[in-house]
Amino acid sequence: MAFKPANNIQDLQYFGEFGGVNPSISDSSTYTFLSAKTMFDTFEGNADGCYLYSRHSTPSNLYLGQALAAMEGTETANVTASGMGAITSVLMQLCGAGEHIVSSRTIYGGTYAFLKNFTPRFNIETSFVDITKLDVVEAAITPKTKVLYCESVSNPLLEVADIVGLSKLAKKHNLKLVVDNTFSPLSISPAQLGADVVIHSLTKFINGSSDTVGGVICGSQEFIDDLRNVNDGACMLLGATMDSLRAASILKNLRTLHIRMQQHSLNGQYLAENFEKAGLKTVYPGLVSHPSHHLFTSMMNKKYGFGGMLTLDVGSLEKANALMELMQKQNLGYLAVSLGFYKTLFSAPGSSTSSEIPVEEQKAMGLTDGLIRFSIGLDADIERTYTMMKACMKELKILD
Ligand SMILES: Cc1ncc(COP(=O)(O)O)c(C=O)c1O
Repeated sequence: MAFKPANNIQDLQYFGEFGGVNPSISDSSTYTFLSAKTMFDTFEGNADGCYLYSRHSTPSNLYLGQALAAMEGTETANVTASGMGAITSVLMQLCGAGEHIVSSRTIYGGTYAFLKNFTPRFNIETSFVDITKLDVVEAAITPKTKVLYCESVSNPLLEVADIVGLSKLAKKHNLKLVVDNTFSPLSISPAQLGADVVIHSLTKFINGSSDTVGGVICGSQEFIDDLRNVNDGACMLLGATMDSLRAASILKNLRTLHIRMQQHSLNGQYLAENFEKAGLKTVYPGLVSHPSHHLFTSMMNKKYGFGGMLTLDVGSLEKANALMELMQKQNLGYLAVSLGFYKTLFSAPGSSTSSEIPVEEQKAMGLTDGLIRFSIGLDADIERTYTMMKACMKELKILD
């Protein structure tokens, strides 16, 4: 039977402490015990339903984790203070000194910087490869490799990972396949395609209101228990814990994610098709011209479309900057990093979110100066938006 992520969220039922339709928020950092023995058992992880201290877990964080695990179809999940809190905890948990990671070379700049500059301090090395070529990925695997790491749809180039193929490689070589699914929630369900661990930056589409950072790790009960272990768990010991008030607000926003993703995708598809027709170099997985259009189609939960992210190459950084400033002036969106907001957000990744990647490597991966990354908003009248954007491009001679 087809996997239905939004149904899984819809089917959860919560009752608040006083019968509220939303679960009550636990606004405490520490919890009391009537018996010292139960406190000891809770610390050891043997007392179900009891809470000890809010870095360990809180009712609000568990509710949000449960909903996100339902969305990804994993046994359980652990929420974190940010997407980077999720990524760094997972990789530090899975790899130790002397071990190796094979990662896509087109990933979020912060993740790239962590793997390139930070983990080598712990003698963890990473090979960055073209993730769309399974033979290249396999050739990079060594006896020391522990993890295959990628984004389902990559930031910012929108390359699509063949999760089924990568999962076969991971199984063959006894590796963990870790997939960051931030760009394609609901559209792609990596765990259903064979990923061992699915990560999101909740900061983006899932929260959708650009008012907080947050992250989640979805995986097996065993792995999440390892991350929460008081003696050697990365989530427990590195301390990237989400605040309960934020967990409660993200859970409320999660409930409209399916409607929002449909509108983001509808608008993204419309703009991508029309910009391409107008002659602009447009990258969007929903375009037949996208090299991985058929791969994305084969993996997707069709109802949610190809997502809200697209890129346009307008030729030079000067033109990109001028266009972004003009579009902001015309109230078409904000010149801002991040994604998943109700308004369109645009930025030039080469000089912002991917600036951690050295210029030569940006060139090698096809990240050009004139590239603008768009997170398309929830605009109710996308035809009007297109007409206004086109007028900005004509004014700047980007289009004739
Ligand atoms: C694909 C992707 N993964 C992870 C992150 C990091 O998430 P956060 O900013 O919530 O730490 C980002 C942030 O831009 C991202 O785009």
